[in-house]
Parts: sequence; C-alpha cells; structure tokens
Amino acid sequence: MNNRDRFLGRSVEKTYSFYCPFYDLIFGKALQPGRELAFSCLNEKPHQKILDIGVGTGITFGLYPDESYVVGIDISAKMIERAKKRAAMLSNGHRISLHVMDACNLEFEDESFDAVISPYVITTVADPLKVCQEMYRVCKIGGQIIIVNHSKSSGGLRSKLEEWLSPLFVRAGFVTDLDVIELVASTEIQLQKVIDCNIFNLDKVIVGVKNKPSKGIAL
Ligand SMILES: C[S@@+](CC[C@H](N)C(=O)[O-])C[C@H]1O[C@@H](n2cnc3c(N)ncnc32)[C@H](O)[C@@H]1O
Repeated sequence: MNNRDRFLGRSVEKTYSFYCPFYDLIFGKALQPGRELAFSCLNEKPHQKILDIGVGTGITFGLYPDESYVVGIDISAKMIERAKKRAAMLSNGHRISLHVMDACNLEFEDESFDAVISPYVITTVADPLKVCQEMYRVCKIGGQIIIVNHSKSSGGLRSKLEEWLSPLFVRAGFVTDLDVIELVASTEIQLQKVIDCNIFNLDKVIVGVKNKPSKGIAL
C-alpha cells in the first residue's frame, strides 16, 4: 500500500462524513448526467436485486427501475443515516436496505445480486482492485457491473495534469490518476462498453458483465 492508498484508507470515512450535509449541493447536479446514463444502461428485469456500492446520500434512489430491491452500502455512517432519511420519503415501490460496510470486504454471499452499480466511488477507495473483485464476486452470472467515474486519460498533457493533481485531490477524498478502464479490463469483469459523460466528457460510464463464476468459487 503506498502513501496515497494509506491516506484514502484512513480518512475517506471522515472526509465523506464531513461532505455529507452539503454533498448533494456540490456533487449533485454536476455529476447527475453520468448517474442517469449509467442507470439507462441497466437491463430491465422485474424485481431485480441491485447493489449500490458507495451509495452516499442516496442520490441515485430516484433512478432505480420500479419495483427494484436496492441494497446500498457505504463506509460512512453519516452518509447511510442521510440515505435512510431519503429512503423513508420515497414512494416509488423500491425496497431499500442500507448498511455501513467497506466495499473492499462486502459482507454478502457470492452471486447474490442481479446487478452491481457504483457511481463515483472507485477512485475514492483504498484498494480499487479489491473492490472490483468484490463487485464481481457478489454479482450473479449474467449480471451487469456498472461503474461511473473519472478515468485517467491515456496520454498527453491531460494525463500529466491528472498525475500532478492527484496528490492534492487525495486530500479531498479521491484520486485523479487511476486508469479505471484499464483496471476493470484487468479483472474478470467482461467489459461491454465505455461511454463518455459529464462536462468536457471528463467521466466515463463503464459497463461490464459477469460471464463466469469468480475464480475460487466451486461449481
Ligand atoms: C463521491 S461519493 C459517491 C456517492 C454516490 N454514489 C453518488 O453518486 O454521488 C463516494 C462515496 O463512496 C463512499 N466510500 C468510499 N470508500 C468506501 C469504501 N471503501 N466502502 C464503501 N463506501 C466507500 C464514501 O463514503 C462516499 O459516500
């Protein structure tokens, strides 16, 4: 674990608990196109059970297909408290269950969700590879894994800037130098499509699927 990961691991819970009261104001509208695009990629299935990793304030709740069973987890207890209040005010037929949990160690059985979705989280976690592996493990075969995030550019000045700025942004709770597309491609997740989103196409909706059991799961 390098210094960056150590910092994220130690302080991310505190950082996002601090953001909680004004999170929606800062990150709500600006990042909403990416959330909407991600949910538009979700296959329609009746009564599907969907895991929302890093659910935050529950800003995605209005985007779930009707009659979904949503399970949201977040490392910040304050975020989960806020999400519970929001869930109590909804009336669109979702069942929502919320838990304080670390995405690096999901407390769910293998293959227990029809889909796993995670907007703007993978660059905030201490161990992004482990989180991808956990997403894959808990997803059912044939299920979708959808990540929305900034992903480091492949070259040029922009990628240099992302490297230089990352140590500054780490104190704000995320990194800018993680190539999320490359990360996902390095896992068992089968990459299906990557779509640009948000202002200046800064972010990506990364859609993958689980086609076979995780390594280590007996058939
Ligand atoms: C940038 S916010 C994204 C919130 C929401 N998904 C959205 O669309 O705006 C990142 C969230 O991930 C959570 N988070 C960071 N590291 C985590 C971890 N290891 N396990 C679970 N949640 C984590 C933070 O507490 C925060 O609520």
